[in-house]
Amino acid sequence: MKILHTIQEVVQWRTTTIDRRGKTIGFVPTMGCLHNGHATLIKQSVDNNDFTVVSIFVNPSQFAPNEDLDQYPRTPEEDIKLLESLNVDVLFAPSANEMYPQGIPLDVEQQRGPFVSVLGVSEMLEGKTRPNFFRGVTTVVTKLFNIVMADNAYFGQKDIQQFIVLNVMVKELFVNTKLTMVPIVRNNAGLALSSRNKYLSPEYVTMASNIYKGLSLAQTTIATTVAKGLSVERDILLQEIKTAWEPYTKTADFKIDYISIADFYTLHEMDIVGPSDKIVISCAVNVFDKISNNTVRLIDNIVM
Ligand code: PAJ
Repeated sequence: MKILHTIQEVVQWRTTTIDRRGKTIGFVPTMGCLHNGHATLIKQSVDNNDFTVVSIFVNPSQFAPNEDLDQYPRTPEEDIKLLESLNVDVLFAPSANEMYPQGIPLDVEQQRGPFVSVLGVSEMLEGKTRPNFFRGVTTVVTKLFNIVMADNAYFGQKDIQQFIVLNVMVKELFVNTKLTMVPIVRNNAGLALSSRNKYLSPEYVTMASNIYKGLSLAQTTIATTVAKGLSVERDILLQEIKTAWEPYTKTADFKIDYISIADFYTLHEMDIVGPSDKIVISCAVNVFDKISNNTVRLIDNIVM
């Protein structure tokens, strides 16, 4: 595997090192601290393309000043071993200076230069709590796409809104990289794998697995109702999820940021879910781990 740090090296690799004619490049952008969720995306790329490029870049422009940019977990040696075992061709690991030559102060007021924004769909749900998050994601993904010029790129359903926002961007800006969404990889108890799960002690990992159990109850209710050709009201679904989480929300350790039952394409909230709807049930929960003294914001979703 080639480990490249500069844009120039990547451009040289794809224009002169490899013979690209009739071949495809698959691309998996990541922020490192790789786990089985990332590995699933990478395997899909390796299986479906002649070459695979993975990027590891902890993108400053998608962090707010109060977020964990400096503490974001970094495990470079383990990441390289994993990528080599998966037969990745190129790891692109640029510096912040390479990606943002003008610099990128975390304070939004001081930021200068070009950004890519997808208004609307990036402003709800995650965008409400993290106002400049998606602008950071769409900007860095545009930069990475322009460097790698991949045929296919792979993103996880874990960050469903990220996928929906990027999909709008790619369609509306005529980007020539095709996006594929890969299903969520979970641990045995159902908790969606995330680099930030590292901050949780085992007791809280167990508690956090109830997030998925709650969403699954709503999924079952919808499935059984629409199977009869009927519709189900949003409030019934929300209540079902909240009741399932009640043992945890009663303590101060588990705070709901949002629960959403929305249209898959627009993310508009739905009052009623019927047989012909494609929806996403999603949530964000802040778990305060009293043992490790960390607060971890966890997101999860079910598409149906
Ligand atoms: P990161 O959080 O490292 O995730 C990289 C990719 O892995 C994303 O597409 C994410 O959805 C996917 N992923 C993470 N956990 C997953 C899981 N449990 N199951 C399936 N897929 C999973 O997302 C980012 O980085 C950044 O925002 C990025 C797109 C790299 C832009 O900076």
